Amino acid sequence: MEKTLAILYATSEGQTKKIADHIADQLHRYNYDVHKLKGKSVFTDFDLKAYEGAIIGVPVHRGEYPGYMKKLIRHYRDELHQMPSAFFSVSLTEAEEDEMKRQEIQQIINRFLSDVDWHPTVIASFAGAVPFSRYGFIKKLIMRSIMRRRVGEVDVSKDYEYTDWVSVDEFVDQFESHLAVARAAGEQRHPSAP
Ligand SMILES: Cc1cc2nc3c(=O)[nH]c(=O)nc-3n(C[C@H](O)[C@H](O)[C@H](O)COP(=O)(O)O)c2cc1C
Repeated sequence: MEKTLAILYATSEGQTKKIADHIADQLHRYNYDVHKLKGKSVFTDFDLKAYEGAIIGVPVHRGEYPGYMKKLIRHYRDELHQMPSAFFSVSLTEAEEDEMKRQEIQQIINRFLSDVDWHPTVIASFAGAVPFSRYGFIKKLIMRSIMRRRVGEVDVSKDYEYTDWVSVDEFVDQFESHLAVARAAGEQRHPSAP
């Protein structure tokens, strides 16, 4: 039986998409077929029930996640609760060494999930990137001043990536083990004919 998963994501500068691509590649190794969809392009006639599991990834911008992803999750909440589902957050704060600062992201995640009333099977928070080459003038100024506060003066002709790919792989392994359990339970309920 074909195993198909959905990854729905939002991205402004591409790091969440890069993480979604990496997750899809890892899931291919487990023989899953993966459909990646940009949250903005998903409409209400999208059939999430057709999938065996779903992953939703969102980046933090100005202290919050995109509103359209909130709407999307609320719309598909019942379907999400009937399958293994996972949530991942992407932010610069997750790259902070200070545990107290990283707690801010946990609060943003908790507020978001409680607001949309979704209880994903697996939740993860990944550090993102600061790709100065992709920013326009205003974003460059904002991010330069944020980076100055974090790490001091930075070279804005460079791109900075903080994602810990090992923890992304661990997230995939964790999610895959939930998928395997759900699949085994489904096969027990509906044994296939010999
Ligand atoms: C305008 C702007 C605002 C941001 N605001 C925050 C923020 O409030 N908290 C945070 O932790 N990271 C913030 N970031 C960092 C992003 O979360 C990080 O760059 C992430 O990799 C973006 O993912 P994306 O490329 O998929 O959009 C901000 C980035 C930009 C460009």
